[in-house]
Amino acid sequence: MQRVESEIKRIIKEIDYEEVSRLFEMLQGGKRLRAKLILKIAPTSTTAPLLGAIVELIHAASLLHDDVIDEATLRRGVASVNATDGSKTAVMLGDILYSKAFSELVAFDKEIAKVVSSSVTALSKGEMMDVKMAVNFNSDEDKYLEMLYLKTATLIEACAHAAAVLAKKDPHSHALYGKNLGLSFQIIDDILDITSDEATLGKPAMNDFVEGKCTLPYIYLYQLLGQQDRQILSSLHAKILTKEESLWIREMMKQHKTVEKSFSLAQELSNEAMSAIKDDTELIEILQTMIKRSY
Ligand code: FPP
Ligand code: MG
Repeated sequence: MQRVESEIKRIIKEIDYEEVSRLFEMLQGGKRLRAKLILKIAPTSTTAPLLGAIVELIHAASLLHDDVIDEATLRRGVASVNATDGSKTAVMLGDILYSKAFSELVAFDKEIAKVVSSSVTALSKGEMMDVKMAVNFNSDEDKYLEMLYLKTATLIEACAHAAAVLAKKDPHSHALYGKNLGLSFQIIDDILDITSDEATLGKPAMNDFVEGKCTLPYIYLYQLLGQQDRQILSSLHAKILTKEESLWIREMMKQHKTVEKSFSLAQELSNEAMSAIKDDTELIEILQTMIKRSY
């Protein structure tokens, strides 16, 4: 991973603008899940660290823009760039990171450049769907999963696919692994938004619903509630919740086991990821740590 970090450093230095270096240093690195995945699939490839750096910059750019869109003030436990330096700066920093990542990407072969760049179109489409779907209460599970696939899983799918190309491994099975890993990862993330607290999350708990996002535990809850409770749940959508209101939601979720139900789907997807790569113990390990993740 050190080689990924030094590629990132080199790229940021090459941008040659002190303001960018300062702001980039303020961003917390994060888990670097995408770069780690690339290195696990292509450990001996000399260009894998650069590819890892590229996708981490794309990911960082997408989060900068996402925090502007979501009007989030916290990211990874610290104030977001839009909160400290304003939305204009956050958008422009995102643009710089994202375009610089693309100029580095052209050094790779066509299949890799294509799969990574197309995934950015997909994640942008997913983000747009996410915003649109948050306007009203969404109870459509398929629509939700399609959005999740675009917003989160496509970049992870592209990482696994591209790394397999670098390592001369099967791109199809690795892409399938990445897709299901990404979906499962995001569902776990959605669950943690409900089951964790602010101190562990680095952002307020139950924030998704406040932002208007009806994640799986909410969708399942809606499906299982009676008419009257459905109305209560819908009335709480996209607003700041009182202690009693969030307790009511948590209690209803407990009664109807909607977190458990969501977790089962995450587990199912994780099993599908596992069967795509069969006996690759390192990739199986990534899945197991991810599913056990409780921050
Ligand atoms: C986090 O979602 C957001 C994403 C995974 C993708 C965001 C994509 C864009 C803003 C498109 C623009 C892309 C580039 C490369 C400039 P979330 O809000 O559910 O997660 P959070 O709780 O971590 O904020
Ligand atoms: Mg967000």
